[in-house]
Amino acid sequence: MTFTASRWQGFGTTIFTEMSALAERTGAINLGQGFPDEDGPAEVLEAAERALRDGHNQYAPLPGVPALREAIAAHQHRFYGIDVDPDREVQVTFGATEAIAAALLGICEPGDDVVCLEPYYDSYAAGIAMAGANRRPVTLRPPDWAIDPEALDAAITRRARVLLLNSPHNPTGKVLSRQELELIADACLEHDLIAITDEVYEHLVYDGEHIPLATLPGMAERTLTISSLGKTFSVTGWKTGWATGPAALVAAVRTAKQYLTFAGGTPFQHAGAVALGLGDEVYDALAAGLRVKRDHLCAGLEAAGLEVLKPAGTYFANVDCGRDGVAFCRELVETARVVAIPTSVFYDDEEAGRSLVRFAFCKRAEVIDEAARRLAAA
Ligand SMILES: Cc1ncc(COP(=O)(O)O)c(C=O)c1O
Repeated sequence: MTFTASRWQGFGTTIFTEMSALAERTGAINLGQGFPDEDGPAEVLEAAERALRDGHNQYAPLPGVPALREAIAAHQHRFYGIDVDPDREVQVTFGATEAIAAALLGICEPGDDVVCLEPYYDSYAAGIAMAGANRRPVTLRPPDWAIDPEALDAAITRRARVLLLNSPHNPTGKVLSRQELELIADACLEHDLIAITDEVYEHLVYDGEHIPLATLPGMAERTLTISSLGKTFSVTGWKTGWATGPAALVAAVRTAKQYLTFAGGTPFQHAGAVALGLGDEVYDALAAGLRVKRDHLCAGLEAAGLEVLKPAGTYFANVDCGRDGVAFCRELVETARVVAIPTSVFYDDEEAGRSLVRFAFCKRAEVIDEAARRLAAA
């Protein structure tokens, strides 16, 4: 039998596998992968424990458990003044990743074009390919990762149906400004595009402010907003996410999700309802802790003589290493015993990201400080 791997297999994953294996072999500090090495708030963990004990261990309803859908609707109102109906305009998913895939599968027809920013989170390319659609990237470049209006215009073909946005943005750490969001909103309105926005880092903003695209004039009725518990509450393994927006778009996600996983993580859905309702001080403390880590890592990278592109949000900081990022990362493991990821793997236009390297700072303070020490020594 001859078998060819699926078209979407391997997008961006090869380098992660290589770097993780290298980290394990050499005992390097892994700042490649974006997940915290400490758990989220105790009250969130206790809520999950309680949910398990209280017997919430069977399939959740397809839309998600009512308490979580109500908490998501309340969250959208509390932070952004967005009103959604928990029954028809909220869909709980298995992480934001499933929401993104289900949205693309449910909304796109084969042959449609999906406009997205590059570099992009690696599931986008796979999700677009699974839907039989084509990606039309708009390239962001350092130092300010600004959206070039001409590039945006050029990416919107006659077959464009969806604009897939991510802010705060992985891997650059950019938080889109109101002016940039207005540019995107104008493009969506002019070309009748559906916007899918991935806002998983919505609460991890250190400079500026997160503005959901759905709050811009005319956008609520054409925007599907996606987020999850993972980054906000440092529980990335819970994979509890959601999509909110107009009933027709949420129904498209629900239809695709029904045949992907149907439901998942019932106890975490119950815990999510508790987590989202916690006070501002919990949200603020998590962001404040990460801001300190960002500052420590950036200071360490600067002290090591690297040109740092300080992020406004997310878990990630980039440096411009001035040469090929892939070779730099391979060498860094040997010389400094620190793992980072070449940002070029998140670009279609690899040349645009050739000398960029991404470091994750969602790690314990002593891990970041040790990584900084090793980098400076190397
Ligand atoms: C931009 C972006 N979107 C989505 C996800 C995945 O979210 P989840 O773990 O909720 O599926 C990540 C995780 O790294 C991410 O960086």
